[in-house]
Amino acid sequence: MVNRLKDLEIVPSNQSLGAEVCGIDLAEDIPGEVVHRMVKAWERHHVIYFRGQSIKDERQLEITQWFGPRHAPYPDMPILGDVSQPDIISISNVTEDGLLGGGRLEPHQDTVYLPTPLAGAVMRAEEVPKSGGDTSWSNLIQAYYELSPGVKRRLRGLKVIAFNPYAGRSARRDLGGGQQWFGTQDSTPHPHPLVRIHPPTGKKTLWVSCLNSERLVGLRNLDVGHQLLSELKTHVDQDHLYYTHRWKQGDVLIWDNRCCNHKREAIPEGQRRVFYRSVIGGCRPY
Ligand SMILES: [Fe+2]
Repeated sequence: MVNRLKDLEIVPSNQSLGAEVCGIDLAEDIPGEVVHRMVKAWERHHVIYFRGQSIKDERQLEITQWFGPRHAPYPDMPILGDVSQPDIISISNVTEDGLLGGGRLEPHQDTVYLPTPLAGAVMRAEEVPKSGGDTSWSNLIQAYYELSPGVKRRLRGLKVIAFNPYAGRSARRDLGGGQQWFGTQDSTPHPHPLVRIHPPTGKKTLWVSCLNSERLVGLRNLDVGHQLLSELKTHVDQDHLYYTHRWKQGDVLIWDNRCCNHKREAIPEGQRRVFYRSVIGGCRPY
């Protein structure tokens, strides 16, 4: 099959984000103008997915680099994966190198604790459980725009610090598995704007990770900051902000980590789930 622009179809979900990309075989050559449309669809819909694909790691890494540069790992700051911090990792509840186990995952952005958090990621579904293990993404641009004018004013100039779940005293061993690298030292805190700009669209994004946003910077009263952060975590976790993806074997899905939280349901005991994730390098949030 030759991929042609006239066969490309972008079908938006009727939810707050997400679109299916139809008419494309990712294993075959894809002309530049088609790739460009796919990148634009990702920037606009924040999660795009292709059904029924058959690709291997090498092709997945090529596709990943259409959406942005390789992530440059920090030598002293662990992220999900082993100490070699490879470009592609296995997220699985059954393979020997599988990460993240089978439990429920709270809403979060990936690597928000780094100076340059990931711009996004590509997930390929090789084995999918009969039930459970759905992943949901929420729209943090919409979350910002739904705040009242008074709350938006309160957030101006504030920063937020997230803890690293793979480092020091904040390590979350339940988020490991495989050969996960856990650093012994606490990570240096890297405050980021609480309201950041989504680079491709210029829109404001409420940059709150329910799992690991830890504290706000810029308010004198710590209790007030704690209360405000707690309210914002509730705000970004409202059902209407989510798109839920029911995985099928052969899915390739690309998400925008700069404006979405994602969460995962638990995987039922005895069911296999084998995914491969590659990552898109990001800039310093502004
Ligand atoms: Fe994640």
